[in-house]
Amino acid sequence: MESKSLNQGLHAAKVAKQDEFYTQYVDIQKEVEAYLEFDPDTFRGKVVYCNCDDPFESNFFKYFAANFNKLGLKRLISTSYDGSPIAGDQLTLPEYDEGNGKRRKPKAIAVEIEEVTDVNEDGATGIDDVKLFLEQNPHTRTPLAGGGDFRSQECVELLKQADIVVTNPPFSLFKEYIAQLVAHGKKFLIVGNKNAITYKEIFPLIKDNKLWMGVTAFSGGMWFIADYKGKYEKTVNGVKLINVPAIWFTNLDHGRRHRKLPLMTMEDNLRFSKHTGIRDKAAYDRYENYDAIEVPFTDAIPSDYGGVMGVPITFLDKYNPDQFEIVGTTESNDPDNACRTRVYTSQECRDAYQRLFGKPGVYDLNASGVVNGVKVYKRVLIRRRTRPVEGTKE
Ligand SMILES: C[S@@+](CC[C@H](N)C(=O)[O-])C[C@H]1O[C@@H](n2cnc3c(N)ncnc32)[C@H](O)[C@@H]1O
Repeated sequence: MESKSLNQGLHAAKVAKQDEFYTQYVDIQKEVEAYLEFDPDTFRGKVVYCNCDDPFESNFFKYFAANFNKLGLKRLISTSYDGSPIAGDQLTLPEYDEGNGKRRKPKAIAVEIEEVTDVNEDGATGIDDVKLFLEQNPHTRTPLAGGGDFRSQECVELLKQADIVVTNPPFSLFKEYIAQLVAHGKKFLIVGNKNAITYKEIFPLIKDNKLWMGVTAFSGGMWFIADYKGKYEKTVNGVKLINVPAIWFTNLDHGRRHRKLPLMTMEDNLRFSKHTGIRDKAAYDRYENYDAIEVPFTDAIPSDYGGVMGVPITFLDKYNPDQFEIVGTTESNDPDNACRTRVYTSQECRDAYQRLFGKPGVYDLNASGVVNGVKVYKRVLIRRRTRPVEGTKE
């Protein structure tokens, strides 16, 4: 019993660690500004809620507070979580100061602002005005009896008042977090791990165009500010940073979703592959267990194929819902996929292992698309929206 609870404690600590990394201002700015380019009024007249954000630490709060007037916000709400350690040194208030340069771990609070005026009378409005305003108006922050958990009643009440939720939530609660936003019919722009795409709770939302990827490209992951006690991979201007395979998940429209992916014909793609040597075997193999062709690179999606195609997950980075329809994944957690043509028996999975590795084992052929007896990487199954004309590029 004791070792079980010790294990649970260690697991909880590990999960908490994975949740403690903080988004850089510049990443929030870059992402949000891409929506403004598409529609300058994306946030105008809206109540924005950052519900995993200590207002005195979070760059989400800082960005939206500093740009309150530019974005035309109606109200900005930010709630912090009791358990959060201190990460940076954003907007330290006197009540956080224990003296001797030490800072007290903040208690969960909600901060709400409805206007940002030129408090310091320097001729402009910005984060310094917000800081002054918060210092001079303690009534703008209220303690949260429920500890600031996004699922607590008082946070749910605030969620109901919000139009758009923007944050980087704890990854360990990502499925629950998204489910809550969807259940309340909220618009959102949030950071999550790339792996979440194929979760059985998330992928159907992507397939139904209720959730899509943000603007920042997938490649290279994102750099976050590491918890001051946690591990980090590099330091930039004294800030400890850690790389995480994170991406933006949203249901706010943006320009990249409406950009057509340029496509070559199958014939051109084959010629191209011979020249570059990218693919040495004949392209466009057919899966043995799906009625679809295998397309190993997003660049190799043909313009003149009307059937279903298995493409890398990174395709979602370029997905235009007017050009393509998502029909499923080749993951075992998409068992009802209409394109699946074959389910392997346990014996076939054992035989495949013996054949491939020369020893007994189980090769789970049902967990992905299979080409020439070998599983390929995770794939999204897509189809063109319009009937393609053979030999025509786009
Ligand atoms: C990945 S961090 C990001 C923090 C901040 N949003 C940012 O981007 O800089 C996730 C934050 O959620 C907090 N958190 C963990 N569990 C929570 C919960 N149940 N409700 C609200 N916040 C939670 C963590 O303490 C942590 O500060």
